[in-house]
Amino acid sequence: MKITTYKQIPAKKKAACRLVFVNSKGDVLAGPKKLADDLTPFVENGEFGKSFGTPFYIPSTGTRTLYMNMGEKKATAIQFRRATGKAVKLLKPKNIKTLYIDCQGLDEASVRAVVEGVTLGSYDYLDYKSDKDQAPKSLEEMSLNLKNTGVTLKKVQAWSSISDGVNLARDLMLQPPNDLYPETLAKKAKQLEKEGCFKAQILKQPEIEKENMNALLSVSQGSEKAPRFIIMDYNPKGAKKTFVLVGKAVTFDSGGLSLKPSSAMPEMKGDMGGGATVFGIMASLEKIQCPHRVVGLVPSVENMPSGTATRPSDVVISRAGISIEINNTDAEGRLILADALDYAKNFKPDYVIDYATLTGACLVALGPKICGIMGNHQKLVDAMVKVGYSLDDPFWQLPLEEDYEALLKSDVADVSNIANTRWGGTITAGLFLQRFAKDYKWAHCDIAASILEKPDDFNPKGGSGAGVRTTIEVFDKMS
Ligand code: BES
Ligand code: ZN
Ligand code: ZN
Repeated sequence: MKITTYKQIPAKKKAACRLVFVNSKGDVLAGPKKLADDLTPFVENGEFGKSFGTPFYIPSTGTRTLYMNMGEKKATAIQFRRATGKAVKLLKPKNIKTLYIDCQGLDEASVRAVVEGVTLGSYDYLDYKSDKDQAPKSLEEMSLNLKNTGVTLKKVQAWSSISDGVNLARDLMLQPPNDLYPETLAKKAKQLEKEGCFKAQILKQPEIEKENMNALLSVSQGSEKAPRFIIMDYNPKGAKKTFVLVGKAVTFDSGGLSLKPSSAMPEMKGDMGGGATVFGIMASLEKIQCPHRVVGLVPSVENMPSGTATRPSDVVISRAGISIEINNTDAEGRLILADALDYAKNFKPDYVIDYATLTGACLVALGPKICGIMGNHQKLVDAMVKVGYSLDDPFWQLPLEEDYEALLKSDVADVSNIANTRWGGTITAGLFLQRFAKDYKWAHCDIAASILEKPDDFNPKGGSGAGVRTTIEVFDKMS
C-alpha cells in the first residue's frame, strides 16, 4: 500500500474517501470543525448513532466521507485502531482505492493506531481463491494529514513495515499445511535472506542429528515431511543487545499417536504460529533499521501418527542432556522448543523470548484473545505486558509456580513431557521449558490465542500475528 501525506484533499481523485473521527455529538476530533458540516443535519435529526464504532457513510460523486463515531468519552489509541479497522472493512465492498485520514492534533500513539487500523484491518488471505474478481478489493493508498501530531512520514513507514511483518505472520498461519511444511517454511527464510532482511542458515535432518536435537527429531519421525531447523540472523554493525527469538513451527499437529479428535484438527495448521511470529519480526528489522542483533530460531516439524511415530512412553535424550519421557505425543511443542532453547545459548543472548501455540489450557485460562506469558526475568515480562496492552496485542502473566515442578516427574527419565494432572497445563508447560532456559534472561509466550476463532476489528480468523508489534517495541525498552 502506498503511503502519502496531504494538506488538502485533491479535487479530482477517483474512488477516494476521507475518514473523519467524530464524537457521538458529531464534533470533529481531528481536523477542522467544518469537516462535520455534512454530518450536522443527520446529528440534529437523530440519525447519527450514539455509541462507539457506529459508522456514517455519505456517498458523493467526488470524495466520499466516512464519519466514525468514537463515542462520548475521550477516544483512546486502542479505540482509534479498532475504529479504523472497522472503517477499512466497511469500505472494501465499495471499491475505495484511496483513503484520506485527518489525524491533525492526535497524539503519537493514536496516529500509530490509525496507521495500524488501516494496514492490519485491510488484511485478506486470498492466495487460494480462484475468482479474484469476486474477492474484496484492497486499498491502494493511505494518505494522512499529520499536522500538529509531531509524527513524521518516516515513522509512519516504520509502523507500516511492522504491520507488513504481522501480515506475513498471518499469511504463514493461514497457508494450508499441504503447501506449508518445514521445507517450504525454510525456503521462505531463504527468500527473505535474498531480499536483504537477514542471513539465513537451514539445518536439515543430518545436521539436526549432529546437534543431538533428539527431542525435536522424536516429533518429526512419524511424518513423511523432513524437519528443518531455521536460523535467521539480523546482525547490524555496532549492535547494542542480542535478542534470540524462538518460535514453535509445527506445520501440522495431528497429535501424533496421541491423536487429536477430528474436530480439533483443522485449526492445527496454525500450530506454526510461534514460528510465524518470529518470521514476522525478522522480516521487519532491516526496514526499520533495528539497532540490535536479533536471531530467530524456528524449529519446524510435522506431528503425525505412523509406524515410525514416537510411542507414548518412549524416552529421548534432549540436546541439553536431559532425558525426557514422552507420555503424550500431543505435547510436542515443548519438545522442539527444548532443543531450540538449548541451542539459543550459542549466541550468548542478553534476552531470549519464545513464542508457541503451546497449550489449549491457555485458552481456557485467558480466553480467545489474550496470550499467556511467563519467565525468569520480571523486567522483560513486565515490558511485554505493558507494551502489549498499549498496542492491543495483549499478554498476561502466569506464575512459574515452583511447587508444580513435582507434577512433571517421570518414573524412568529426568522429566515427563506432560504433568500428571489436567490442571494448570499452561504453567506446567512453562515449567518444562524453564529447565532448558536456565542460562539466560527468558520469557515464554503461550500464543495459543493467536489461532483466532473469530475475526475482530483488525485481526483475521485463524492467525493474528500476535507478539510481532509488541516484541519490536520491547527491544528498545530493554536496551
Ligand atoms: N498445539 C497444541 C495446543 C493448542 C490447542 C494450541 C488449541 C491452540 C489451540 C499443543 O501441541 C497441544 O496439543 N497441547 C496439549 C498438551 C497436553 C497433551 C498436555 C493440549 O493443550 O491439550
Ligand atoms: Zn499437540
Ligand atoms: Zn502443538
